[in-house]
Amino acid sequence: MTGTMLAEKRGAVGWMTFSNPDKRNAMSLEMWAQVTSILDDFAADDAIRAVVIRGAGEKAFVSGADISQFDANRGNAEAAANYAATTDTGRASLIAFPKPMIAMIRGYCLGGGLGIAMVADLRFASEDASFGIPAANLGQSYSADNLRRLVTLVGPAVAKDMLFSARRLDAGEALRVGLISRVFAPDALEQEVERYAALLAEKAPLSQRASKAIVNELCKPESEQDAAMMRAHVARCFDSEDYAEGRRAFAEKRKPVFRGR
Ligand code: COA
Repeated sequence: MTGTMLAEKRGAVGWMTFSNPDKRNAMSLEMWAQVTSILDDFAADDAIRAVVIRGAGEKAFVSGADISQFDANRGNAEAAANYAATTDTGRASLIAFPKPMIAMIRGYCLGGGLGIAMVADLRFASEDASFGIPAANLGQSYSADNLRRLVTLVGPAVAKDMLFSARRLDAGEALRVGLISRVFAPDALEQEVERYAALLAEKAPLSQRASKAIVNELCKPESEQDAAMMRAHVARCFDSEDYAEGRRAFAEKRKPVFRGR
């Protein structure tokens, strides 16, 4: 069993599912290799306005990398570099995905699974979700890129607590430290995520795209920030048909209809 990625379009929302249920949705190399084509399709489809990523079933979002593949594919530094080449391509697609992305989290969200969830723009979880980074249980270290996202969300002290101890945080603590944005009862989670994604789908896509790109850029060190790219996003919004539609709709006291142009 190597697991697979599933894709579904429901109205204006694209759903991408990590499916390896026998291993608590552990992320295999084969799954990483399928991420890019799904996200490229969601990005290119103008009818898709937001994306939800989730784990199959109720026991886990993603329980981290598939450890059973480590001996064959990640047993030393050279093998680890080859392994990283595949996972980096999938991860780069997640990071570069331009539309709003929500991670819907049930059950375990561990290690690389938390790394994936942290790339999403928002994390909505059920009360039974649990979060942790077991690197210190395995003798690994997480990449600077992953750790920057963690530190940006929870600050250095909570990040070190999670990394040094490898302990698990329940949904209440994860909410308190800023790792996740919302918590819902398990039977309400999917409906709440659908409702929120539908709300996002009504808003102006270029405005959301600009906000995502600029906020992500501002989380980088100042010396690495691309000021021209950020200005271009702002200018594109002011020149857009949607901005004219937004003003017209306000004056006419009706709901705007945005097209992402
Ligand atoms: N990679 C490969 N297999 C995994 C896995 C992973 N990351 N996480 C779970 N599995 C497998 C288990 O080996 C087990 O397989 P088996 O039925 O053949 O024995 C099956 O999934 C169920 O796991 P189990 O531990 O029995 O379930 P649980 O509900 O008691 O605990 C976890 C679930 C996720 C807490 C536990 O499996 C775990 O700690 N996994 C490792 C998490 C980790 O270290 N991730 C970081 C990897 S870099």
